[in-house]
Amino acid sequence: MLVLGIETSCDETATAVLNISSPGSFKILSECVASQTDVHRAYGGVVPELASREHLTALPLLLEECLAQSQVPLEKIDLIGVTCGPGLKGCLLTGVEFAKGLSIASRVPTVGVNHIEGHVWAPRLIHPELEPPFLALIASGGHSEIQIVKGIGEYELIARTVDDAAGEAFDKSAALMDFPYPGGPALAQMADTFAGKPRFALPKVMREAKGLSFAGLKTAISLLVQREKQSGSFQSSKAEIASAVQNAIVDALLFKVGKALEASRLSTLVVTGGVSANAYLREKAMSLRVPHVLFPAKQHCMDNAAMIAYVAGIRFLICGECGSQKESLEIHPRWPIEHAGEQLV
Ligand SMILES: Nc1ncnc2c1ncn2[C@@H]1O[C@H](COP(=O)(O)OP(=O)(O)OP(=O)(O)O)[C@@H](O)[C@H]1O
Ligand SMILES: [Mg+2]
Repeated sequence: MLVLGIETSCDETATAVLNISSPGSFKILSECVASQTDVHRAYGGVVPELASREHLTALPLLLEECLAQSQVPLEKIDLIGVTCGPGLKGCLLTGVEFAKGLSIASRVPTVGVNHIEGHVWAPRLIHPELEPPFLALIASGGHSEIQIVKGIGEYELIARTVDDAAGEAFDKSAALMDFPYPGGPALAQMADTFAGKPRFALPKVMREAKGLSFAGLKTAISLLVQREKQSGSFQSSKAEIASAVQNAIVDALLFKVGKALEASRLSTLVVTGGVSANAYLREKAMSLRVPHVLFPAKQHCMDNAAMIAYVAGIRFLICGECGSQKESLEIHPRWPIEHAGEQLV
């Protein structure tokens, strides 16, 4: 089955073509991503209206490029998978309406995919052996979640974002330290240049909170940066501060993951989403007391369409036409993963 994936939930436009025969047997034929970082940098964050317009311009070009790379003409596509939520309303609408147009014109069924469900299954793209049940830490720009994954469409929430998501915590800390948007990866890169234990003590957040909360971290970082600037030592201690911030965020996330592993006694942990690109998080997750720890490939940590095509394909294989929608396809800007299967009737 040849599946076209379309992803436009935030500030990356992505398309991909996958050939899927079964959950563990598939091939990525092509994948294309157009990032909008340069457009939004001047504003210090994603401007939703600009993001939608960028998707509109990029989508036809990316479709053409990814069909050409895969050497699959549109007429040969069997299924379209498109992100319906969660995400920015205008951005989701652009992708969904584009998919609907293609679907009607080429008489191909379409499956609406939950973006977070895409992130959960992204590691399968390089680990076809990954089988549920497993524990998933989803750490992305808009979400931090710990879920028990029992199968496609079967999730049990353990904890989720209360205030900032993990990626937001990285990006906002980076902004406090004067890194240009999006600062998370730059902060991480600088943190990795510091060897040893940072002198700075940041609060151990998330210990008591029920959900995944970074409350108190930003204030502490802001005060620390202010103090170092006033004493004139900010530039010389920047890598050390970055390391302390990275440690604090990773330590908080993995504290909760450790508790969830103990309680669930699951033997596989999946760490996914944009922040799973972080080398320190990967290293520390590997040292947890769990036999198997899996991550996505670097290109599948951030938003991509291969994970969307994959979930669409598997859903369609499991329930056939019942997993597809055409004109009735709707966007769901807020769409918890536990309800990912509900709109598929
Ligand atoms: N090496 C890294 N270290 C820390 N954070 C990183 C790293 N690389 C990327 N990130 C963060 O990952 C986030 C982007 O991830 P992703 O693309 O999955 O998020 P999103 O799609 O915007 O949000 P969501 O998936 O929740 O809708 C950004 O906040 C970015 O700073
Ligand atoms: Mg994402």
